[in-house]
Amino acid sequence: MASQQNPKQENNAKGIMNLPGVGAATSEKLIEAGYENLMSIAVASPGELIDSIGVGEGVARKIISAARDAMEMGFETGLDVLEKRKKVKKISTGSKVFDELMGGGFETSCITECFGEYGSGKTQIAHFLAVNLIKSDPESYVIFIDTENTFRPERIEQISRGLKINPENVLKRIKVARAYNSDHQILLVDKIDDLIKKEKIKVGLLVVDSLTAHFRAEYVGRGTLAERQQKLNRHMHDLLKVADLHNLAVYVTNQVMAKPDVFFGDPTQAIGGHVVAHSSTFRIYLRKGKKGSRVAKLVDSPNLPEAECGFYIDTEGIREL
Ligand code: GTP
Ligand code: MG
Repeated sequence: MASQQNPKQENNAKGIMNLPGVGAATSEKLIEAGYENLMSIAVASPGELIDSIGVGEGVARKIISAARDAMEMGFETGLDVLEKRKKVKKISTGSKVFDELMGGGFETSCITECFGEYGSGKTQIAHFLAVNLIKSDPESYVIFIDTENTFRPERIEQISRGLKINPENVLKRIKVARAYNSDHQILLVDKIDDLIKKEKIKVGLLVVDSLTAHFRAEYVGRGTLAERQQKLNRHMHDLLKVADLHNLAVYVTNQVMAKPDVFFGDPTQAIGGHVVAHSSTFRIYLRKGKKGSRVAKLVDSPNLPEAECGFYIDTEGIREL
């Protein structure tokens, strides 16, 4: 088996084989179960290890703590972070101005949230990103968690044709799951790590469309708000964890509601409040513009200025103004 691995994978596997206090048989089981490096073990939960390699809880905790010790989790230098940042990829929207707004495209290893009224184009952007990712990296997969039954393979076909690539090759690489309620949605995200390990696929983009609709529908009334926000908070952290672990881009959509007390400026406000706002790395506010155009405004980003751009949504994809 080792002969088929590249040198880097071999090193990672060696790290697992040399874990102090963990026997060779257990290490082999870990590798077979798809744990490819110390990091993936260090951030696993005991329950995950119990399920995937059939050890008891004590042993699972010991393995995780050995992995954590071995990789000296904690502080890294600015230089280390810079090295990591070099691995970040950017997914094109298909529009030059939109990509420029985002500093070159939608980044991997973080969450980008798009909020805006119905029909503003949030779901369309998910389709554009999916096709453009697979165009630029035909080996890559997209995972689409669809909560409102809005994923449309026909749109993928049209956009693919617009980009002159074979629609079938794109559709083959998009894994769609319907989420029927918020718990189901959370569970699906939980299972992504397993899916990637089991099928040994490279996932470049994870879409959750819509992030907040189920939460909003299930938790009505002020009394339930705290519980909803806690659950949403955990969900956002799960999303960040997969983004970071697999260097994939997470794209989530979010509806808006009218703010009753605003007389000046924009009276709309994103659902999910501070929890969603603070866990999203990039936030885009999407609205309908003049003559059927769309306006995307980058309202929050760790390193880019607040700015906006306009474009049209076309049958074959995104079109410049
Ligand atoms: P909600 O999910 O309802 O909150 O809206 P959304 O922001 O996800 O909107 P979505 O991305 O579904 O945008 C729908 C809009 O995109 C439609 O109203 C059309 O204006 C436009 N659109 C979708 N498909 C096509 C197409 O094939 N051709 C053209 N020209 N426009 C399209
Ligand atoms: Mg939508």
